[in-house]
Order: sequence, then C-alpha cells, then structure tokens
Amino acid sequence: MEVLSVASEAYPLVKTGGLADVAGALPAALRTEGVRLRTLLPGYPAVTASLADGETLWRAADLFGGAATIVAGTAAGLELLVLDAPHLFARSGNPYLGPDGRDWPDNALRFAALARVGAWLAQGLLASWHPACVHAHDWQAALLAAYLHYDGTAHSPCVLTVHNLAFQGVFPPSLLPALGLPAASFALIGVEYFGNIGFLKAGLLFADRITTVSPTYAAEIRTPADGMALDGLLRGRGAAVSGILNGIDCEVWNPAGDKLLPARYDETRLAARGANRQALQARFALAADGTAPLFAVISRLTLQKGMDLVLEALAVLLAEGGQLAVLGTGDGAMEQAFRDAARRHPGRVGCVIGYDEAVAHLMQGGADALLVPSRFEPCGLTQLCALRYGTVPVVARVGGLADTVIDASPVALAAGVATGVQFAPVATEMLEEAIRRAAALHRAPAEWRRMQRNGMATDVSWRDPARRYASLYRELTG
Ligand code: ADP
Ligand code: GLC
Repeated sequence: MEVLSVASEAYPLVKTGGLADVAGALPAALRTEGVRLRTLLPGYPAVTASLADGETLWRAADLFGGAATIVAGTAAGLELLVLDAPHLFARSGNPYLGPDGRDWPDNALRFAALARVGAWLAQGLLASWHPACVHAHDWQAALLAAYLHYDGTAHSPCVLTVHNLAFQGVFPPSLLPALGLPAASFALIGVEYFGNIGFLKAGLLFADRITTVSPTYAAEIRTPADGMALDGLLRGRGAAVSGILNGIDCEVWNPAGDKLLPARYDETRLAARGANRQALQARFALAADGTAPLFAVISRLTLQKGMDLVLEALAVLLAEGGQLAVLGTGDGAMEQAFRDAARRHPGRVGCVIGYDEAVAHLMQGGADALLVPSRFEPCGLTQLCALRYGTVPVVARVGGLADTVIDASPVALAAGVATGVQFAPVATEMLEEAIRRAAALHRAPAEWRRMQRNGMATDVSWRDPARRYASLYRELTG
C-alpha cells in the first residue's frame, strides 16, 4: 500500500522534538508491514541540500506568493517529496522561528502551503503516484483535512496524528482568503476557532481518523482538564479517536552497538555502564562518585516538561546523596536557573545548555535514573530510550509516561515486573517522594538491577505501533 506522510520535520534532516523522531522512523517501520510511506516535507535548506537524486514532479508559478515545485528524492534513507518553495522555506535554523526567536510572521501561509499540496496529492495531483491514504502530523499539516473537505472532490482518506495538543496553529481570521478557503468555512463546523482560524481544530473536525501518541493521552484530551479547549470536539468524534504508542529506532538507540558510548553493554553486562558513568560525570563536572544515585534530565526546559519541579525538588535529591545532570534548552529563565544550580552545587549538579545528541546518548548509557516530571506528555520518547538503556525512568503518571513505565509499587516489586517509578499528581512533593523512593531502591542493588533488566526487556520498538498504523490505513482504504 502507498501512503503519503505529511510532516514539518523529520529526523535526521530537521528536528525540534519527538515529532521528527516519529516522522523519521515511521517509513522504515511500516516497510515491514507492506506499506510504502513517502514523506512530504517543506524544502528547508537542510532538506533540499541533502536530497541525493532530485526529480521535479510538479511545478506551480504561484503557491501563496511564489513559485513552487515538488521534488522527489531520497535523503537519509527517507523517500521524500520536498515542497521546494523558496519564498516560504529557504530559511535556515529552527523551522518555525526566525532569528529573533519568534514565530515567522508568515507561518500560517508556510504550513497552509504544506497542507494545500498534501491535499492535492491526496486528490491525485501526480499522474505517476496516487497514495491510497494520507497521514498528516500536528497542526502544521492539519489544514489538509479542511482543504479536502471544502474542495469536495474525490480523494484518499486522511489520518491526523496529534503529537501535542498544546500547539494548535491559531491565526487571524483576515487570512482566510489568502489561505484559499471559502468564506463559509469560517464557522463553528469549520475552521473558526474562538474568533480565529484554528488549523488543528479544522483537522480534528475533518480528518477521517484521529490518532494521538498514547492511549492515556487519547483519554486525557477528551477531558476539560487536558483537552486545551478541544475536548468537546474530540469527544464528539467518538470512536474516530484512538491512541497508538510511539516506538523508538532501536538501531539508533542500541546500547550494545552505540558508537557514542565509551562502553557498550547489554543486560548481561550492566557493569560496563560504569565507564559511561565516569565519562558522564566528567562531561558534567560531577564528582567521580561511584555510588551516588545519578539522576539525568534530557528535555526541552519548559513548564510542560515540569522542569520547575526539578529545581524545586533539588534539595531533596541532594539530601538523598544524589547527583543531577541536565541537558536541555528552552525557557531562558529555566536555563539560567539550572546554570545557577550547577554553580551553587559544584560536583553535585551539572548542566549542558544546548542540543547535543552525543551527550544524550552518554547520559542514557551512564546515568542511574532519568527524571521526566511532565505536566502532560502525549507519549514521550526519552523514557523509552531510558528503558532500553537500563536507566530507570522516574516519571509523572500522565499520558504516554503512564502507559510505558511500570511503577515499583510493593506489588510490582514482589512480582518482579517493575521498570521505574511513577508519581501523581504532578506536584513538587510527589516528585520529591519519587526521588526518595528511587534513591532507596538504588541502595538495594539486586532490586535495582532487576528493574534495569526489566526495562531493557521491554519492547519499545516500532514493531507493534507499525502494525497498528498499517491496520488503520487498511481499515480506512477498505
Ligand atoms: P518532545 O517532543 O515533547 O520534546 P519527546 O520525548 O517526544 O519530547 O522527544 C524529545 C526528543 O528530543 C528525544 O529524542 C530526546 O532525546 C531529544 N532531546 C530533547 N532535548 C535534547 C537535547 N537538549 N539534546 C539532545 N536531544 C534532546
Ligand atoms: C510531542 C510530544 C511528545 C511525543 C512527541 C512524538 O513532541 O510532546 O510527548 O513523544 O510529540 O509523538
């Protein structure tokens, strides 16, 4: 089966978060299910430059204010259709933000163009290739479903995956004509969203099926507390909404073959992690302490990720004899707060403010525990990497974190099935208690090793999720 995936980022070409990991991993995962996934990506400089073998399949003299082409080719093992529209995408750096750190002022047009072309492809724009199904990701591709609806022509069915309901793509109503949408679309049963145009809202209304990246998040977003004003709409979509957990690329994340680690290991050679721990402590200027529970954070430094709670719980972490290593970027005040904490606690707290994949691998390969205290988490990928690397995840019991970690409750410990520590509700005192529990478990080496091995035996691959996406596509295409 031929499927078109439409996304605004894909690892390793362009990445700001887990969306890129997923869009980059799905094609290979689905190949084993007999699905050929080609990915429509914006022609950012990093994308056009990496195309090995470009073939122009389509040209337009004017797409939202400039010339555009669709160029087919491969890059980093991905089969791409690149929307080359220099007036919209020939800008390097972050795909959404300008040099001033603010959203590009024309983001509505940029991602409407992506969605517009995705919809045309679903309607048979190319004589040479007509996908049986279209899979759009997040608000940047969501308007595709609205175009299909208002065009009213024959088209392939469309799945919309929500990776994060907090990012909704909301723009002023004056843009409606420029987006090529009919005046009548500005309605409750349409693209109108609290007086604006809502790209994600429109997609949620018109997509044939909606998935999100974990079953628990699929349930949470149908409640007022976590629905970010879209819960009513989502409840109304009934059985069209479901949750499919993400996997991780188990070749990129493989402790037994990871060239970014000083020492490689598997579940039978956990002692080899000691060398990684030493390198990690050196990298973060932490004391070369062989027994302190070493907690790691690999995260966007934002409120969503609960990073303020880590700062608040730091005293307890230190009182338990722990060390903390933080890798991340994000909110400027939080970056500064972590730098200050490192300065106040030399040898005990270290931080690397930045985006660095090699350091992320070193942390997974050498830390004892990974803290993920998110206020909400659609799926979360770092806890999946942690499980695979024998780093024990300490997580908030929300979204995909609830679905992927088995809490070390007395019952789970007795049954020998625990893989981590969960806490709820998401509050500082609960995180503190989780840190205390993790530190106590760490003082019982046999118990700890058991959790590490259970985590490493957990299937975090794309195998099962790929099967679910493939059967969803098949269901839709009959
Ligand atoms: P989100 O997409 O909400 O940020 P996810 O857990 O789904 O969260 O995905 C985050 C991805 O980005 C993971 O692959 C993680 O390893 C990676 N990551 C996040 N911050 C950094 C960083 N500072 N350096 C390297 N990798 C990072
Ligand atoms: C979003 C979510 C994260 C999820 C990722 C990939 O960035 O915040 O929880 O893992 O998308 O689906």
